[in-house]
Parts: sequence; structure tokens; C-alpha cells
Amino acid sequence: MQTEYNTKILAAADLRRDRPALQAAAEVLRAGGLVVFATETVYGVGANALSGAAVGGIFRAKGRPQDNPLIVHIAHIRKLEALVRNVPEAARRLADRFWPGPLTMILPKSGLVPDEVSAGLDTVAVRMPSHPVARALIALAGVPVAAPSANLSGSPSPTTAQHCIDDLSGRVDIILDSGPCHVGVESTVVTLAGEIPQLLRPGAVTVEQLRGVLGVVDVNEAVYHEVECDGPVASPGMKYRHYCPRATVWLVHGSFEAYLELLHEKRGNGVWAMAFDDDRKRLPYPCVTYGKEDDPASQAEQLFAALRELDGHGAKRVYVRAPAAGGVGLAVYNRLARASTAKIFLEDGKNPG
Ligand code: TXA
Ligand code: MG
Repeated sequence: MQTEYNTKILAAADLRRDRPALQAAAEVLRAGGLVVFATETVYGVGANALSGAAVGGIFRAKGRPQDNPLIVHIAHIRKLEALVRNVPEAARRLADRFWPGPLTMILPKSGLVPDEVSAGLDTVAVRMPSHPVARALIALAGVPVAAPSANLSGSPSPTTAQHCIDDLSGRVDIILDSGPCHVGVESTVVTLAGEIPQLLRPGAVTVEQLRGVLGVVDVNEAVYHEVECDGPVASPGMKYRHYCPRATVWLVHGSFEAYLELLHEKRGNGVWAMAFDDDRKRLPYPCVTYGKEDDPASQAEQLFAALRELDGHGAKRVYVRAPAAGGVGLAVYNRLARASTAKIFLEDGKNPG
């Protein structure tokens, strides 16, 4: 078993100019190796999804628990059929509307999908990303690509190549640098394996948009609440604490004035605020920002970089201004809730759940 990789970092920003890098990466995938690549959501660490041995390498590289299944990425809708037992009408409608894009569908899997990918479940998660580099790489490889986010297990997902280098250098064959990811939070995950479609992980495709196509869509309760670590959960990934910087994080609900008072009371060595862009000039305390208060897409784009930046500052205790949890904001809220140790409700704070 290979334990130490001589990781190559290759530019892959321009499909034409950087084609040799993409071809080299596709060759590595075909040979059973590991390639980090950009998608529109976050960077992924990919392996040939049809090879259990290749997929095993992903779990070792990330230190990922074996019972957490992976998403299989395809470059064309016609590649879906071979991976699943059948393609229900609901899946076709969602694919028509949202693929390529940040939506993952869970369906009963076919015999082609190794148990390593599905972590022993009888379902498989499939998505067709819209990022041109991801699509070109998968098409060149000629195989579906299993890829979780390219972070060490438990850390915030990577939205730049540097984040991936920080976490996975020496653990993968190639890191393709395609610049920052624009969505910033991982894909929406919806299961179509039960009677009623159910949202398992919120993302840039909102539950309102899913309902617009499918009618009734349930929301799994773990989307709003942190789950206890024991017992069965619909999506194994939801039972792990995630997205954590090294600091202890509190998610703070309430007015800006109450937040300011809290920071004043808690101020001290290693204490940081994480708030919106316009708050910086109003806060006389160390602060990282994560987008505009009234623009959840900008919050999603900057969220994980902000969490990583806190580590860079050596933050020990972080008080985060909670975002509004509607639309894409539900994804931002969900990731922050899972990165934090506890929530704080200040006077006039509202529970978005
Ligand atoms: O945007 C994304 O989805 C990124 C990029 C790289 O495509 N990938 C990603 O993968 O976020 P990962 O492994 O970090 O998250 C996959 C999530 C986990 O919560 C996992 O438990 C869930 O999808 N999942 C995968 N297969 C599943 C299945 N068969 N049933 C239920 N949940 C599943
Ligand atoms: Mg992940």
C-alpha cells in the first residue's frame, strides 16, 4: 500500500492551455490513483468509482470513516442509467432542471457500484457537476468519479487549491488548481429512494426549487438540528461533527447591538468575531467576515475560507453572527450549526429552525 505520495500541483484554469494536465490527471484516475479537482461547489478528491480498491484510497487520504458513502460524479446524463437500478420520472425531471449543477440524487444502486462507494448501503449518490474542469476531467477519464470534498475529515470543505494543498499534500497524486469555487458550499443532497423525496443536505439548489419541480419534498430533521452520534441516520455524513476550525465556535442569534454587547463581555486573547462584511467597521474586535448580510450566496461562497482563516489567526473562541436560514441561507446556517459547539440566543434572537 502506498503511504506517501509525491503530489503534483498542476494549473487547470484554461481547458485548452491546460489540457495536458487534464490528460495526465485522467490517466491517473484510470490507473486507480487520486486526483483533487475543482467543482462549482467545493474541491473534490476523486478516484475511479468503479474500482473498490481505488475508492479505498480516498478514505485513507481523508481519514474518512468507512461508513460514510461517496458521491459519484458523471459528465453526461446517459451515464446515470448504468449506476442505478432504474431512473424514476422524478430523477429525470430534476436532472432536466438542475444538471449539470449543485444537486446530488440518491437512488437504488446497480451492481456496478462497489460497496466501498456506497459504504454498504443499497443506494448510490450521483451528481453531474457544472464546472468545466470537472466535466472535462470525468469525460477524459472515461469512468464515473467518486469524490468527497477534498479536506481532511472533519475540517471545513476546501474552496481553493491552497486549502487542498494544506490538507492533502503528500496524500494524493495530483491537485489541479482551477482557482476558487463559486458556490462555496457542497451540493444539495435529495434522496429519491423512499416514497417521498427528502432533502438530506441543503445546498445552492433550494428546497423551494425542488418543490417547484417535484411538489412534496420532506426535509430531514438533521438539516435543522445537530444529530446525536448513535443510531441510524438517513445520510451517514450527517452524524459527524463537520466543518470545524480548531477554535470553539458559538452560533449567535440576536440583534447586532446584542451581539456587540456579547463580544464586549467575552473579549480577550484568542476571541474572534465572525460576522458580515459591513459589520467589520462597526466591530472594535478581531473579526473575519463571510459575505453580505442580505446576500446568502455571498455567504456560501466565503463561509469555508472564513472558517479556515480563523485557524490561520490562531483563534481559540469564535462568536459567529447567525445568518438568515432561508433559501441558500439554509445551507449556510446548516454548515455553521454543525461547526459550532452551541447556539446562543440573545434577547430578540429567533430560532430559524
Ligand atoms: O458538492 C459536493 O457534493 C462535493 C463535490 C466534491 O461534488 N462533494 C461532497 O462529498 O460534498 P462529501 O462526501 O463531502 O458529501 C457527501 C454526502 C455525505 O453527507 C454522505 O453521507 C452523503 O452525501 N451520501 C453519499 N451517499 C449517500 C447515500 N447512498 N445515502 C445517503 N447519503 C449519502
Ligand atoms: Mg465533505
